Formats: sequence, structure tokens, C-alpha cells
Amino acid sequence: MTIQRAAAVAHPNVALIKYWGKRSDGSVNLPAVDSLSVTLAALRTETRVAFDPALAEDELLLNGVAASGEQVRLTACLDALRAVAGTSLRARVESRNDFPTGAGLASSASGYAALTVAAAAALGLDRDDPRLGEVARIGSGSAPRSLYGGFVELRNRADQTICRQLLSPTDWPMDIVVAVTTEAGKEISSRDGMTQSRDSSPFYAAWLDSHPGDMDAALSVLGERDFGGLADLAEHNCLKMHAVMLTTRPPLMYWSPTTLACLHHIRQLRKDGVPVFFTVDAGPQVKAICLPAAADRVERELAGLDGVLRTIRGGLGAGVRLIPVDD
Ligand code: PMV
Repeated sequence: MTIQRAAAVAHPNVALIKYWGKRSDGSVNLPAVDSLSVTLAALRTETRVAFDPALAEDELLLNGVAASGEQVRLTACLDALRAVAGTSLRARVESRNDFPTGAGLASSASGYAALTVAAAAALGLDRDDPRLGEVARIGSGSAPRSLYGGFVELRNRADQTICRQLLSPTDWPMDIVVAVTTEAGKEISSRDGMTQSRDSSPFYAAWLDSHPGDMDAALSVLGERDFGGLADLAEHNCLKMHAVMLTTRPPLMYWSPTTLACLHHIRQLRKDGVPVFFTVDAGPQVKAICLPAAADRVERELAGLDGVLRTIRGGLGAGVRLIPVDD
């Protein structure tokens, strides 16, 4: 039997209306809330998959190093695809990120989006099969969003999620400047942190209750291309998620002093009339989202803050796509 190979590229995404928390009904990694994200062109994951009859189990090389800690999630995703394709072949997976891994830059989202599409192609499955989103979600709750480019929504529907593009990268161009404040991995994974928040934060119920209103409002400001409205809403939703994180027991304190300095600076820029807002995920990096004309200034000023190691800048990215195997 021959080796079946394929490769794909995906970009991480950053949520403007966040997902934090999982449904507690025993379902496979279903988010407790809907979310809305933008896909980031500047960061890139490239994943190669080879289903090989000689393998006894799945193997993963992440940035050139064997990643046994990912084995369970990887095999769960591949099992779901093997069930659809009717095969028991095991796979060798090689994935590379051109940005810090596991440090609040959504490497698991781009990683599992690229893995799902490459593995599906290697098995001869249809790229547009709606089940691919469900498979990517087994690996990371935010991974289905990286299947698409531009502005993307992820909605809960019964025991499934439905993901779709709302605006293409050119419908409402934005630039994203990432202020990298550490290259280190985070201490507590999103997956563990979410469970702890659900079980212990007194603010978790309020987070769930107020979330549909944030999603509705976001769709309306997107429709109107209302940058100021989106800025207020995205910052509010981000800070609300961090209020839940901070009030989790033990607390999830993902920010560093540099994170906070960036947030104050971005708020001041907006007060001065610069169209920019912030968002922060489960790590100390800050993402500044701005209209493209403001990106030079935003990047220059964030890069000049004490503690900012470097900045990464780019526009809205495309969805996942296949690349030649020997590229
Ligand atoms: O997809 P996960 O399990 O890594 O969780 C992502 C959680 C946040 O990045 C904090 C929020 C989000 O919606 O992306």
C-alpha cells in the first residue's frame, strides 16, 4: 500500500467576541458560547500529514520536536477522520509555526485547522465536508474559525457547531499588530483554565448570560462597519473574559505588567483619535486591531514600550488551504 500524503497552511485567529468555557454535558469539546474572530495573515502554521501503513501509532513532530503531550488530542482528531474515511491507517504529522507556540497566539487553532484539512485531503475526503469543522473542534475549540478567512463566526447548534465567514479580508480591511511580551509557553492551558473557571468563578454565570447580547451587537456593528462600536464591544468582551479568569480559583492571571502597559497605551491612542483597540487571550501577548492607515503608528508606539520584545504585523488572513506536499 502506498503512503497517502497532503499538506496545508493555516493562520491563527483572534476572537473579538471570545469563547471561554465548555458545555458540561459530556459532548466533545463544545464551546459554552458563540464567538467571532478575525484570521491573522502574519502568523502561519504549515502541516504535513502522511498516512503510512508501516506506522503502529500516530506521530507528531511540532516545530521539529516529538510532541507526546499532544498525542491524545491528535489521535482523537485523526480517529474522527479515519471513521469518516473508513481506514485504520496511522499518520505521521509534521507541523511548524513561524511564531511562539502555546503562548496565547492561537497556535492550537491554526495547528488543528491545518491538520484537519491536510489529513482529510490525504484520505481523499471532500474539502467542503461540514464534518471537518467538527473534527478541528475536537483538537481546539477555536480551530474551526481558522478554516475561514476575514471575520468569522462560530455558533452552537444543538450538539454541533456551525462556522462561517461573515466578511472577507477585503470587505473591511484591518491590520493586526501583535505585541509579543514573552516567547514562553503558558502555564495553564485554555482547556484546563476553562474548566476551572466554569467550576469556580462567581462571574461565570454572568459571562454566559451577557454573551448573546455581545454577539448580536457585534454583528450589527460589523454590518455598519462601525469601528468605534466594534472597539468598545471587543474590549468590553475581552475584559469580561479576563474578569472571569481572574476570579477563577486558583486565579488565571495571564497578564504581565507589559500587557497592562500596552492596554493603557492603546486606550490612550484611541482617545487621541487613532482607530485601534486591543484584545488579549490566554497569555500575556497583546493584539492591537486597527484600520490599516493607523498601523505604522500603532506598531511603532507598541514596539517602543518597555517589555515589548517585538511586534508582528499583518492584515486579515485567508482560510486554510492545501499546498504542494513537497513545497
Ligand atoms: O481554542 P482554545 O481551546 O485554545 O481556546 C481559545 C480561548 C481564547 O483564545 C481565550 C478565546 C477565543 O475565543 O479564542
